[in-house]
Amino acid sequence: MTLTSFKSLFIKKDLNRVIAEAHDPLIAEEHGELKRSLTALNLTLLGVGGIIGAGIFSLTGTAAANYAGPAIVFSFIIGGILCALAGVCYAEMAAMVPVSGSAYAYSYATMGEIIAWIIGWDLVLEYAFGAVTVSASWSGYLYSLLHKTLGIDFPDWMIKLTKGPWEQVVLNDGSAVFGVWNLPASVIALVVTGILLRGIHESALVNNIIVAIKVGIILSFIGLGWAVIEQANWMADPSASGLMRLIPQATELVRDGRSMLAYGLPGVLTGAGVVFFAYIGFDAISTTAQECKNPQRDLPIGILGSLIICTVLYILMALVLTGVVPYPQLGVPDPVAVGIDRIVSLRGWSAEAQKTFTFLVKVGALSGLTSVILVLMMGQTRIFYSMAHDGLLPWFHKVHRQFGTPHIATVVTGLFVALCGGLMPMSLVGELVSIGTLLAFVLVCLGVPILRLTHPNAKRPFKVIGAWPVGIGGAAACLWVMSGLPFDTWIRLLVWLFIGFVVYFGYGRKHSKILKESSSL
Ligand code: ALA
Repeated sequence: MTLTSFKSLFIKKDLNRVIAEAHDPLIAEEHGELKRSLTALNLTLLGVGGIIGAGIFSLTGTAAANYAGPAIVFSFIIGGILCALAGVCYAEMAAMVPVSGSAYAYSYATMGEIIAWIIGWDLVLEYAFGAVTVSASWSGYLYSLLHKTLGIDFPDWMIKLTKGPWEQVVLNDGSAVFGVWNLPASVIALVVTGILLRGIHESALVNNIIVAIKVGIILSFIGLGWAVIEQANWMADPSASGLMRLIPQATELVRDGRSMLAYGLPGVLTGAGVVFFAYIGFDAISTTAQECKNPQRDLPIGILGSLIICTVLYILMALVLTGVVPYPQLGVPDPVAVGIDRIVSLRGWSAEAQKTFTFLVKVGALSGLTSVILVLMMGQTRIFYSMAHDGLLPWFHKVHRQFGTPHIATVVTGLFVALCGGLMPMSLVGELVSIGTLLAFVLVCLGVPILRLTHPNAKRPFKVIGAWPVGIGGAAACLWVMSGLPFDTWIRLLVWLFIGFVVYFGYGRKHSKILKESSSL
């Protein structure tokens, strides 16, 4: 590779051009135009819809039982601070460059084409694989609702259709065999694809209804549980705490020789890496910039508003959950259901009430997971749309004339999520989603100070205070959490990026609009 062709890898797209293309009537005429119908309220609810899901309904319990103990609440606070740093950077970028490519488009303008490609390809890990992971969790909650809560028995052949070929299911005679296809995961992905195809307005409406249900159920859980919290549950057995002696007795973390820090500070930090998954999704709304009525004002409101709401709900949920159930008992796939069982028994209510509340919590979880799949898949389609717009991918920039949605990108994303959700081993994808998201956050955080340098006078409807410390600090914090993820997750990330390079050099680079234009000058 010559020096000139190496330099061309970092060719940048002019910032004003990125913005202008979002409103270009010629492009709209040729490929169709996305519909602008989202308001600040829709965006905030889409954010909440995308955030609250498998993280709180499944992972919290494992993180409390195995890593942080009752101090999981601090893991949530750390996760919230980290996401707030990335969130304000996203807010500045999204208001300044309100286009559907989000982090991909910001990097095209700040760091050049190859970095934009890496980030666009990397976002598949966050959005498409995020939807895959959550659809598998959706399937687990559905089976648990129908079988455990409603008492419906299924024949063995149906049980084998509840998990993919890499995971075990327990048949009616108690034997464990490998599943065949996770059919519910595939079905929910296809249903969500149908909603997304129909239109952004319709998708937002479905999301609003779902968010009302899940937030209602979470608030009821917090309200019912708060009064019966047993503070002793927040204090772990001293034998469990290695670092406890290092914490001054005067702090509230240690009382009568017992500590919230069941596994010490390292446990809290590992817990923060695990529950980070629970915050993923707020950034997806930045991909709807071209479908907002007033993106420059409303995107920062949506991103930061949803993040604040969810952080508060998570902290309260964590306090109630670890306050009503001793943390070692939380290491189950449905810790919130275990929590509500305990709340009902602490309140002395009947077995019938217990069944009703467990049913409601599982319905809340199912609805929560549905909106996460919806928002993440929506984000994926908009990223593909933008990459195809720049010539780096084929077909995906076409917009349906009647529905105003990127229909080809939507169908391909839907089929991909349905196929992977049905067949892929979930142990391979979960942490990949977190590492992929963190990498995107690093680049968005770095983009803010870079753009302050390169475009000091650009119009910034939302401005981060202390852009340098926030941007650099946010990027460093994300890198630090990434460094705590297992080595094989890093390898998988590198393999994924390698596949991306093959696609880029095989297709994207040859069709890149901006490269073609620069070589014809
Ligand atoms: N934050 C999303 C969830 O927890 C991805 O399901």
